[in-house]
Amino acid sequence: MPNITCIGAGYVGGPTMAVIAAKCPEYQVTCVDINQERVDAWRSGEPPIYEPGLRDVVNQCLNRNLFFSSDIPSAIKSADIIFVSVNTPTKDFGEGAGEAANLYYWEKTAREILACSDSSKIVVEKSTVPVRTADAMSRILNSSHANLKFEVLSNPEFLAEGTAIQDLERPDRVLIGGNQSTESGREAVRQLVDIYTHWVDRERILTTDVWSSEMSKLAANAFLAQRISSINSVAAFAEETGADITAVSSAIGMDSRLGPRFLQASVGFGGSCFKKDILNLVYLCRHYNLPEVADYWEQVIKINEFQKHRFVRNILQAMFNNVVDKRIAVFGFAFKAHTGDTRESPAIDICRQLVEEKALLNITDPEALPNARRDLNDLAGRVNCEEDPYKAAENADAIAVLTEWPQFAQLDYQRVFQSMRKPAFVFDGRNILDHQRLFQIGFNVHPLGRPPLSHL
Ligand code: UDX
Ligand code: ADP
Repeated sequence: MPNITCIGAGYVGGPTMAVIAAKCPEYQVTCVDINQERVDAWRSGEPPIYEPGLRDVVNQCLNRNLFFSSDIPSAIKSADIIFVSVNTPTKDFGEGAGEAANLYYWEKTAREILACSDSSKIVVEKSTVPVRTADAMSRILNSSHANLKFEVLSNPEFLAEGTAIQDLERPDRVLIGGNQSTESGREAVRQLVDIYTHWVDRERILTTDVWSSEMSKLAANAFLAQRISSINSVAAFAEETGADITAVSSAIGMDSRLGPRFLQASVGFGGSCFKKDILNLVYLCRHYNLPEVADYWEQVIKINEFQKHRFVRNILQAMFNNVVDKRIAVFGFAFKAHTGDTRESPAIDICRQLVEEKALLNITDPEALPNARRDLNDLAGRVNCEEDPYKAAENADAIAVLTEWPQFAQLDYQRVFQSMRKPAFVFDGRNILDHQRLFQIGFNVHPLGRPPLSHL
C-alpha cells in the first residue's frame, strides 16, 4: 500500500489528509509543514483551524495512520504519492504584481521533492494554481539525470470552508487530471482513483488531462463568484427601486436551470480562493491576448469591491453622513460562517473604511477574533475585540452584521436595544435577522437589497 505524504498542513492539506486517513486505514498518511506551531497543534489533536467535525476525524486516525511532522525530507523520501497543498498567494512584486500567482513556494517545493527523492513518485497538485503549473512542476522534477520518474497529476480541491468534512466525505465530484497518453501516466491516475474509490462512487470520479483539470478549478470558482457578484449587483438595483432581493433570489433560484445556491446577497465574497483565482484567470487571459475575456472576469471583482464600499456608504448616509467617534458593533469578522478564517474577508475592508471615517469598532465573532486582531493590528486604538456580542453592542450607535453566524439571529434584541445609544441602527449585510421585529423594537433597520425600515 502506498505511503502518502502531503506537503502543507493548512485548510486544504489538513482536512483532506485526515479524511483520506480515515477512509483508507491501510495507507500511512503523513502531513508536513514548515510551520512548527501548526504541526504541533495538529499533533496534539487540537487542529490549528476551526472546521466543524475536523477534530473528531483527526483524533480517529492520529498516530494510527495519520501523522504530522516538520521533517519534510524524510516524509518526501518515504512517500509513494505526494500531495502538494502549499499556499499560492498573489504576486506582490514585479511582472504580474497584484494578479499573477506567486509561484515561489511551488518551485521551492518541487526542488525539495527532487532533492530528497531516491525513488520514483506520483506528485499530486492539490492547491489551486494557475493552469500550466503542473507542466512547470513536471519539467523541474524530471530535469535531473537520476533514474527517477515523476508523474504529476492535478487533483483540484473543491471543499468549502465550514463544510470541509462533509464536502470531502460526500463530494459532488472528484477530478483527476493526468497524462493519458503514456502508460505510466494512466497508471498514476489509476492509483489516485483507487484511493478515492474507498468512499466515492466511481461515476463521480472524473479523469481528464492535466490542463482541463487545472482550468476546471479556476472556472468553477470564477462561476461561483460571478453568481455572487450578479446577485449583489441586482441587490444594489433593488435598493434603489424598492424591490426585495430575497424575493428576487427565490424567484431566480426556482428556475431549475439556475438553481437556488450562491444567490444570497451579501457584503461581498471573501475567502482565499475566489479573488485569487479570478485574478489569475484575468492575468492568463491578458497573457493569451484575450483582453475582452479578461475584462469580463475582472468585472466580477470590481462589483465585489463596489458592494463593500456601497455598504459603508449606506451606513454613512443613514447615520447623518457622520460616524466620527460613533461606536459600531461589528457582528462577524470571518469571511463566512462556521470558520475562523479571515483571508480576504469583506469585514477587513469594511472595518478599515469605517475607521477611515473615524468610527470606533467593537468586533465580535465566535471563532475569528484572533485573526481579526492580527488583520487590524495597526488600528488597535480604534478597534476593540469582544467575545460577547451583548458587550460589543453596549453603548454602540449601530450594529453591522458582516458574517452570517446563526447565533447572531438568536440574540435577545430587546436587551441589545436597551443597551445601545439612540437612535439605534442595524445594517444587516447578510439579511439574517428578523427585520420587522427589530423595527418594532425600535431599531432603524437597513437590510441589503430591500427598502430600509426607519423611524427617522
Ligand atoms: C470556495 C469554493 O466554494 C470551493 O469549491 C473552493 O474549493 C474554495 O473556494 P470557500 O471560499 O471556502 O469555497 O467558501 P464559499 O462557500 O464558496 O464562500 C465564499 C464566499 O462567498 C464567502 O465569503 C461567502 O460568504 C460568500 N457567499 C457565498 C455569498 O456572499 N453569497 C452566497 O450565496 C454564497
Ligand atoms: P490553503 O487554504 O491553500 O490550505 P494554508 O495557508 O492554510 O492554505 O496552508 C498552506 C500551508 O502550506 C501553510 O501551513 C504553510 O506553512 C505551508 N507551506 C508553505 N510552503 C511550504 C513548504 N515549502 N513546505 C511545507 N509547507 C509549506
